[in-house]
This record gives sequence, C-alpha cells and structure tokens, in this order.
Amino acid sequence: MILVQWRDDYSVGARSVDDEHKALIGRINRLYDQLMVEDDPLAVSTFFESLIKAITEHFLREERFMRERGYDQLPQHREDYERLLDEIEALTDEFDRNEEAGREDLAMRIDGWLSDHFETHDARLEEVFDRRKN
Ligand SMILES: [Fe+2]
Ligand SMILES: [Fe+2]
Repeated sequence: MILVQWRDDYSVGARSVDDEHKALIGRINRLYDQLMVEDDPLAVSTFFESLIKAITEHFLREERFMRERGYDQLPQHREDYERLLDEIEALTDEFDRNEEAGREDLAMRIDGWLSDHFETHDARLEEVFDRRKN
C-alpha cells in the first residue's frame, strides 16, 4: 500500500536531493505496507517508531550536509522537523483513539508536511548552494 506518492512538485531541482527524498518516501511506504499486513497489536507502535527513525536518519544526513557548508537556516530547518515530530506524536494518539480516522489523517498529514518541507526548506538549501557556485 502506498501512503505517499512521489509527485513532480516534490522536486527541489537537484537530482541527488530528489533521489534521497524518493528513497525516504519508498521507505515510508514499505513501513506502511507492513503495518497494513501485520495482524500484530504492536504493529502500530512499531510503525511509528520506524517512521520516526527513517525521517530522523534523513534529517541528520541533511543537517550534516548543511553544517558542513555553513547553511544559514539550520535552526529553522530543525524547527520544522520538530513540528513533524509533534504531528507524529498527535497521530499516534489519534490511532489509539480511533485507528480508522488515524489512518486517513496519516496520509494527508505526512504528505502535507513533506510537500511543504521540500518546497520551502530543502529547496532553499539547493538555491543557496547554487547561488554560491555562480
Ligand atoms: Fe529532505
Ligand atoms: Fe529537510
């Protein structure tokens, strides 16, 4: 099952960043797939833990890249990531209360965050480096 589908408007205009984001989306979808097939009461908590892990790993790679290049908006980038963690925490609670409603919100919120984050923070990163190169 697909939770989030790669779309062209996710693209930040740099192949390496897009490939990394496609890999992240692929990983999220594989986790979601597992959640859908597993008839295990712990599947939901495993899913959320793995989701946070996948996103955190991606974020740490990006942060290292930013730090190495003296990127100026690292705190803002981190803040947006923290906002996502808060959302995931809220979704976990929602799943506890009503799993069906939680599942519907999950796709919408993750997709919303990804498109917003890619478009603003990650695309800006690429712009700043392009500007420096010229
Ligand atoms: Fe990213
Ligand atoms: Fe990012």
